[in-house]
Amino acid sequence: MALKLNDIYTRGFISGADFDSIAPEVESACAKIRDKSGAGSDFLGWVDLPVRYREDPVAVEELAQIKKAAEKIRSTCDIFVVIGIGGSYLGARAAIEFIRSQQYNLLSGDGPQIYFAGNSLSTFDTANLLKICSDESKNVCVNVISKSGKTTEPAVAFRLFRDLLERRYGEDGARERIFVTTDRARGKLLELAREKGYQTFVVPDDVGGRYSVLTPVGLLPIAVAGIDIDAMLDGAAKAREDALSPDSDAVKYAAIRNLLLRSGKSIEILATYESRMAMIAEWWKQLYGESEGKDGKGLFPASVIFSTDLHSLGQYIQQGTRNIFETVLYIKDSAPDLPIPADPGDVDGLSFLEGNPLEFISRNAFLATILAHYEGGVPNIVLTLDAADEYNLGYLFYFFEYACAVSGYLLGVNPFDQPGVEAYKNNMYALLGMPGAENEALRQTLLKRLESANLF
Ligand code: PA5
Repeated sequence: MALKLNDIYTRGFISGADFDSIAPEVESACAKIRDKSGAGSDFLGWVDLPVRYREDPVAVEELAQIKKAAEKIRSTCDIFVVIGIGGSYLGARAAIEFIRSQQYNLLSGDGPQIYFAGNSLSTFDTANLLKICSDESKNVCVNVISKSGKTTEPAVAFRLFRDLLERRYGEDGARERIFVTTDRARGKLLELAREKGYQTFVVPDDVGGRYSVLTPVGLLPIAVAGIDIDAMLDGAAKAREDALSPDSDAVKYAAIRNLLLRSGKSIEILATYESRMAMIAEWWKQLYGESEGKDGKGLFPASVIFSTDLHSLGQYIQQGTRNIFETVLYIKDSAPDLPIPADPGDVDGLSFLEGNPLEFISRNAFLATILAHYEGGVPNIVLTLDAADEYNLGYLFYFFEYACAVSGYLLGVNPFDQPGVEAYKNNMYALLGMPGAENEALRQTLLKRLESANLF
């Protein structure tokens, strides 16, 4: 098993009897996934993805196309820009930074530098990246990813990067450098791709954005980074087997979170000990936040990186409002040996650590923190991952996806929709002057409300 769950530090907060009391609800949540009988059941395609890529000839061929395109990109470009937002970029970025490190673009001599765009509306970031891509000595390729094909942030960024590529390489040259990942049959992006003749990859109908890392959405950029996507899928396949087994840790994780929420812990903090996991935490936050935060319900997902954040949020976690619990994700075998050197004078008083690897100190910080936080009234779920490699990452992605679906059903929400994100979009389109009588009416109402606010 690649991942182990230990719940010893939740004792005293939840009990065996609590588990027994929700067992029928847990079983019913799992049955909703198995029988496709719950809300949003049209979006359960991710459950079988790892198997599909091994057994379904269409998916096998798609995987081959992904690898071929990745090779082409790796051999023809120095800069690869991935345009997408939310579920259309977080998984790929999480995987690339986890496997290749956050300093990937600085360290890499293998494959193109990889940048992410269209995940905000920051002029500063966008202009910066356009400038980087304007360096004539560097060839650029773009993968634009949007299931709906109409999300504002990536659509605007794509217009800018397409313009750059077309001016530099001409329409024909740009066609060879633009890769589109979108819906099979619908959307403005698909229309544009067809009109221009770009190579396209499909986001399956039955897989929502935040569950799509193991589709071309994640797999193409991840493969471009030189990461072994077969090993990732193997890890995910093992996680699927374990998740569907009677003794499933993914289901147990969902049950524990739900019990802790019922006991008044309304915030879950994902704690890691590696900066390379920062984007995994962002991916996890989106997965759980968007899947569960609705109908006035849900745990608030937050994250910290220790030991860095022990010197900031650590204070709050130890002694602040007692409405939090932690899920600690620790990698058992994460680091090369980095021994503490000898210092005969022992001026810093650290000679008792001499010869020990830095990892030894980190591991003891991990143990010390769990005990301190638990004593301080913060339950800790501990997830230990065997190694920081592709297989374990694939396992981890699937583990969290499955647990999230169970957890959402247990909470009584549809874990596959996100109706709440429309509110800001409708306002924004109206304020931007999108044509249409309804937009115009809303625009007038919003402008009136903003008048008295004096924001600018
Ligand atoms: O999980 C989701 O469905 C969302 O986060 C989407 O991935 C995000 O809004 C981007 O949507 P799209 O791929 O349609 O541009």
